[in-house]
Amino acid sequence: MFFLLWAALLFSVRGSNADTGASVERQTQCYHGFCIILYEAEITAEAGLCVVIPCSFRTSSGFTTEHMVWYKCEPDRRCGDSDMIFHTNKNNKKVQSQFEGRVSLLQSDVSQNNCSIIINDLTVSDSGSYQLRVKGFRYMWSGSRNKAPEGFTFSSRPTVSVKDLTQKPTVMIPPLTKGQQTTLTCTAPGLCSGSDPTITWRWKGTEANDTHITGNITAENHSSTLTFNPSAELHGTNVTCKVSFTGDTTTEETVTLNVSLFPRILKNSGCRVQSEVLTCVCISEGLPLPTIKWPLLKHHTEYSVITTVSKHTVNCTVTLTVKDRSNTAVACVSSNKYGEVKRNLTIQVEQEADQPGPGAVLPWVVAALSLIVNVIFIICLVFLWNTRKKVKPNQEDRTYMSLRKKDLSPEYDVIGQPLN
Ligand SMILES: *[C@@H]1O[C@H](CO)[C@@H](O)[C@H](O)[C@H]1NC(C)=O
Ligand SMILES: *[C@@H]1O[C@H](CO)[C@@H](O)[C@H](O)[C@H]1NC(C)=O
Ligand SMILES: *[C@@H]1O[C@H](CO)[C@@H](O)[C@H](O)[C@H]1NC(C)=O
Ligand SMILES: *[C@@H]1O[C@H](CO)[C@@H](O)[C@H](O)[C@H]1NC(C)=O
Repeated sequence: MFFLLWAALLFSVRGSNADTGASVERQTQCYHGFCIILYEAEITAEAGLCVVIPCSFRTSSGFTTEHMVWYKCEPDRRCGDSDMIFHTNKNNKKVQSQFEGRVSLLQSDVSQNNCSIIINDLTVSDSGSYQLRVKGFRYMWSGSRNKAPEGFTFSSRPTVSVKDLTQKPTVMIPPLTKGQQTTLTCTAPGLCSGSDPTITWRWKGTEANDTHITGNITAENHSSTLTFNPSAELHGTNVTCKVSFTGDTTTEETVTLNVSLFPRILKNSGCRVQSEVLTCVCISEGLPLPTIKWPLLKHHTEYSVITTVSKHTVNCTVTLTVKDRSNTAVACVSSNKYGEVKRNLTIQVEQEADQPGPGAVLPWVVAALSLIVNVIFIICLVFLWNTRKKVKPNQEDRTYMSLRKKDLSPEYDVIGQPLN
């Protein structure tokens, strides 16, 4: 019997040695028939998230486990009641307040000898050395069958190291097409069962005044969605998803909206001919910015092309000399990766007479002269009217003047004298 136990013990120790260096570093430590198996010597975790301490144990024969108790204390001393962070007996009130409700067993059935725990809502101060104690009893045969309470504290301890949060939320962007309602999804890092993080969205446009995304935000456990209608104006907007965990831990991810827009030739495109000089303007909208082609230019060698671009429109002007404009048809072709659009531009022929010359100036001269004459006439009328009033003030004017006379300045006094 004893031989078998020792053989089993040796085997497990060998097993642990053989496993050293593997990704899962299993460590078994036994004492008086009580063994603890730890799967990682030092477990690293990030603030705001959770950590699992994988653990299992064996007890000496005859021992029945009733409770598991976890402690956290300095590695150089044995943990005591004041270091308690978890007790399978929910009525135990000695659990440190900062761990209350944050620690739970992965396997709630104590008889499974599975001591793995998960600690949620981690903070950097949760770093340290943890220790397990099992509490139970053993039947003693002293005449009658008695339950003798017993406890065992395992000296081998798992260590947890909590670092600042580096994981970022995941933002999923489907392809954004103008006019097609879309939903961005932001998922918080770490699928932990602790408190739900708070997820907020914010966005900043390419212009000084921020573009406003009007959409709906819905949150569900560890993710949040933002639904909106993509527009050309939203192209290039940075959208940030911020995840805030309990304990002031935050993390965020920014994505740049990339709206796709089929090319379109705008109505204000067109051509003009003047003294055999043909000028055509093609204004096209599209994302990515479209390229503009002029099939007409294949037959010409001398021309100039000027292209200006703004956020999502291209303005292309071509100038060339045409001898015979009657059979000139001008088409503009605009294309980007989503497609191509062609439009025949209307040609507006401008007469040479339209150039501003003496004929064009004459009406202005007439208009100006007429205005001057009118103004002079009005001035004369007003002047005449005033003179008439001063010569014959009516009864009311005279009363007003005499009432105010004493309070007024000498100048007014003179002017105000009733002219009898
Ligand atoms: C402990 O229980 C958890 C949850 O049931 C399980 O995932 C884990 O593998 C168990 N550990 C051992 C060592 O059995
Ligand atoms: C958007 O973010 C990128 C980098 O992520 C940055 O280069 C760009 O300037 C930002 N744009 C705005 C409008 O803030
Ligand atoms: C937002 O939600 C309201 C009401 O649920 C709905 O009427 C509206 O169409 C939604 N808007 C978007 C952009 O999804
Ligand atoms: C935007 O999308 C277009 C087409 O899908 C792609 O060519 C371009 O590189 C993207 N730009 C950015 C900034 O992601």
